[in-house]
Amino acid sequence: MHFSLLATDKASKARAGEIHTDHGVIETPIFMPVGTAGTVKGVHQHELNEDIRAEIILGNTYHLFLRPGLEVIEAAGGLHKFNGWNKPMLTDSGGYQVYSLAGSRKITEEGVKFQSHIDGSYHFFTPERAIDIQRTIGADIIMAFDECTPYPCDYKYAKRSMHMTHRWLKRCMDQMKATQPKYGYDQVLFPIVQGSVYKDLRTLSAEAISSFDAFGNAIGGLSVGEPDEDLYEMTDLVCEILPKEKPRYLMGVGTPVNLLECIALGVDMFDCVMPSRNARHGMLFTRNGIINIKNKKWYKDFSPLDESGTSYVDHAYTKAYLRHLIISKENLGIQIATIHNLAFYLTLMKEARQHILAGDFNEWKNAMVPKLQNRL
Ligand code: GUN
Repeated sequence: MHFSLLATDKASKARAGEIHTDHGVIETPIFMPVGTAGTVKGVHQHELNEDIRAEIILGNTYHLFLRPGLEVIEAAGGLHKFNGWNKPMLTDSGGYQVYSLAGSRKITEEGVKFQSHIDGSYHFFTPERAIDIQRTIGADIIMAFDECTPYPCDYKYAKRSMHMTHRWLKRCMDQMKATQPKYGYDQVLFPIVQGSVYKDLRTLSAEAISSFDAFGNAIGGLSVGEPDEDLYEMTDLVCEILPKEKPRYLMGVGTPVNLLECIALGVDMFDCVMPSRNARHGMLFTRNGIINIKNKKWYKDFSPLDESGTSYVDHAYTKAYLRHLIISKENLGIQIATIHNLAFYLTLMKEARQHILAGDFNEWKNAMVPKLQNRL
């Protein structure tokens, strides 16, 4: 696997690049749809590929480990074979889901004991085990096992937790070296910078993480409830330290505006449940602003879902029809809204990339941001 940096914007720190994997090339900046349980909820792989034009999707170690379990995934020959997605996949390590989902959990230096949210059973993840599980799932990009601190988080806790995440990273790196890919293609590890909203901790963490010389680096512990100013300040500070020649992944971010602002700070990769989760509640993101399709104003609006949209659903269905489907809690409504939002996010990334390559990203971004914030 390798990463090539193709261009950097002059007026900002935006970058365009390519990540080459054994499952194909990812053009950055990129948004990665979240496919927690091996599925992007309600979306066929065909639609993900042909219509949304996703280049990489996410899976979650925590969910896949609990269900269907490693025995099934290994017997299938890995997650790509199991779910029929032949392009790159990234798995989060469980270091986030364990804290946000598990019934109860106990963190020690050795690892995290937690209770399944499905059946209450007890499990124990260590950094080594998180690597082994992700090797078995067969992700192209494996995430380090970390602790994502909550917001707010007191300084002492954030510091202690960050140091433990660094020690866990050493164990993750050692386990990567001690083990081999199971299915014949390359797998790489991304460490995760932590440090909450404290500048000195973020600096220390970004320096520590950089020294591991991994394939790429991630920024975690953000988009957990902090104000946008903190998100941008921490992202900027960390991007200044992380090596330029490696991809940077900002975890769990964000709104279309967050994405453009963080691309301008030097981020290459994003994931977030927002476009898919909010779609299920009738929130649509468009280049002219945000639509709440449940709003009465759309009830007899027979115009296309999104005139400027790139997905077939944008032109095949009307606003009034989608409003009816979402209000009636019809599965098709959720599917249409999800496809629309994900296609919009991917198109926005593609456009950002074209502007970085053309050399006018910053002007374009500054013109886009106010439009994206409109409420339609
Ligand atoms: N997803 C969003 N934030 C985080 C984080 O800090 N750590 C991990 N592992 N996943 C995340």
